[in-house]
Amino acid sequence: MAEKQNATRRDALLARIEGNASQALDFVGWIFQGLDIPDNANIVECCCGTGKQTLEFARRLTPGSRIHAFDIEQKSLDYLTGQLDEAVRDRVEARRLDFNDFEAVTAAFPDRIDLFFCSYGLYYNKDFARLLGLVRDRLSETGRITVVGPYGRNNDELFSFLQACGVGIDDYIVYTAQRFMADVVNWMSDNLKDVRSTTERNPVAWDSADKVFGYWENSTFHDPALRDAVAERLAEHFRTHDTFINCKYLMKATATMILP
Ligand SMILES: C[S@@+](CC[C@H](N)C(=O)[O-])C[C@H]1O[C@@H](n2cnc3c(N)ncnc32)[C@H](O)[C@@H]1O
Repeated sequence: MAEKQNATRRDALLARIEGNASQALDFVGWIFQGLDIPDNANIVECCCGTGKQTLEFARRLTPGSRIHAFDIEQKSLDYLTGQLDEAVRDRVEARRLDFNDFEAVTAAFPDRIDLFFCSYGLYYNKDFARLLGLVRDRLSETGRITVVGPYGRNNDELFSFLQACGVGIDDYIVYTAQRFMADVVNWMSDNLKDVRSTTERNPVAWDSADKVFGYWENSTFHDPALRDAVAERLAEHFRTHDTFINCKYLMKATATMILP
């Protein structure tokens, strides 16, 4: 049985971020490349989690701008606000919100949105097109939507390894990990202008069985019934290899209300 609560649990998120520490890419640096932040901007960030990107936004915002950061997990929001220093605290509003509750979303989002941003979270929405439609209705004339997420052969090595151990990976998990971003780009093409996407290949090299295991047990595809089988095969792998390499494939898709 896959562990759905790992999708929101703060400690699972922190463990996965730590588990990706040996990634080749400067993930936050890549996200912010070319991500212009206008003056006096109202930024909405959904699924901000423990704030990896929120903190970078806060540092980059000019006075008068504000980031409204939302997540369903209060412990993650507390972690985020605990990291804000005095200089940027008043630029960040971190609030608990279930973005599947569209009534609550309608009430919580600001009337004018200059940038809607969501990294590795939009697929948790049960109707992402409805959510983005709601955002679109509030985008300023030069407003933008930026969505970051996995795509393509993302996690293929890890999924294949686990499947060989008998772990069942839900079709929906594979969809979110590999194909969901294509649906986002299609939605953007139908509803916005100047759609741009950039991609990166980001190998993560784990140098011990514990690190692979730690990542898996904090993922949404962990299956407690198969821990022994996975541990055994990992030990076998590390008898002949120094690392386990799992490739992440990332996409950043951006679109605007009007042509620049
Ligand atoms: C993989 S984390 C991404 C965190 C952050 N954006 C990052 O890239 O480090 C996904 C986040 O989505 C949040 N989330 C999941 N379901 C949600 C929902 N229904 N409403 C709001 N947030 C949700 C989780 O609590 C978690 O913090």
